[in-house]
Amino acid sequence: MTARTDMLRLHDLEPTTGEFRRAVIDGLGATPKTLPCKFLYDGEGSRLFEAICDLPEYYPTRTELAILGDRAPEMAAEIGSRAGIVEFGSGAGIKIRLLLAALDAPAAYIPVDISREALVAAARALAADFPGLHIAPVCADYTRPFALPAIGGRMPETMAGFFPGSTIGNFAPSEAVAFLARARRLLGAGAVMLVGADLPKDRAVLEAAYDDAAGVTAAFNRNLLVRMRRELGAELDLDGFRHEARWCPRHRRVEMHLVSLSRQEIRLGAHRFPFERGETIHTESSHKYAVPEFRALAGRSGWLPARTWTDAGDRFAVHLLRTG
Ligand code: AVJ
Repeated sequence: MTARTDMLRLHDLEPTTGEFRRAVIDGLGATPKTLPCKFLYDGEGSRLFEAICDLPEYYPTRTELAILGDRAPEMAAEIGSRAGIVEFGSGAGIKIRLLLAALDAPAAYIPVDISREALVAAARALAADFPGLHIAPVCADYTRPFALPAIGGRMPETMAGFFPGSTIGNFAPSEAVAFLARARRLLGAGAVMLVGADLPKDRAVLEAAYDDAAGVTAAFNRNLLVRMRRELGAELDLDGFRHEARWCPRHRRVEMHLVSLSRQEIRLGAHRFPFERGETIHTESSHKYAVPEFRALAGRSGWLPARTWTDAGDRFAVHLLRTG
């Protein structure tokens, strides 16, 4: 094994087909029907999500990138020298580059992602651009407890969690609190955490961001049906469902649904899942948090909210949390 491959030794806990099957049986058997959004991200789903990030309607990615571009030096100063960075849901690894470039002598980078394909490609590209950085990718579902791999070489001086993209919004608020509390234990005493959180705004802006004119988000959502057919052998009519994005003011979240266009059923082995016309599968929620609301939520998880950076248009926020 070469040094380079050794550096990129993958810790592989990618969910199995069996887990996907179990989730489909549980989710389609429930009322109302639902599927966990983490299954949106196989190789194809991760590629579609990257395409979403470039859409004119999808403002979160470019807004957060602009905040990081302007403020990474301030964030890096807060994190300090020789940090070990754990990124939850690292995807293509674009945002971490801005932070790594601003940090003083980062010791290690541990990207955690559910898509093995996206994770390995991003870790390879990063290793080429940051020689000497210790990179230890972990393919895992970070919504469940997992352990950090041993970090070879120098011990980091500070551990820093990085959770950009407003992916925190995919959790229900109580789950977000539980996740942040787990991240705090995982990172240990003296850690810091940077969390991106999308801000509430006009319904029209939000719904367009999750239902673009080019239909990329629709394809991203429908990829769940494609996966059910290909990986599980489910019998279903791909054209029998349409994508829908709904702003729900009561929960301050955008919900993605797959809406059944007729009375029909999805079959999976001996299982039958009947749909009424108009009945939906709820596939994702993206909660939006005003600044004080997010800081209060972080406080409930045991973190101390320290600083918040927003863009001039108040579309997106990046929060810095400390353990004490
Ligand atoms: C990557 C989870 C933050 O919720 O905005 C984009 C995913 N879903 N368009 C989000 C997503 C539909 C995205 N996150």
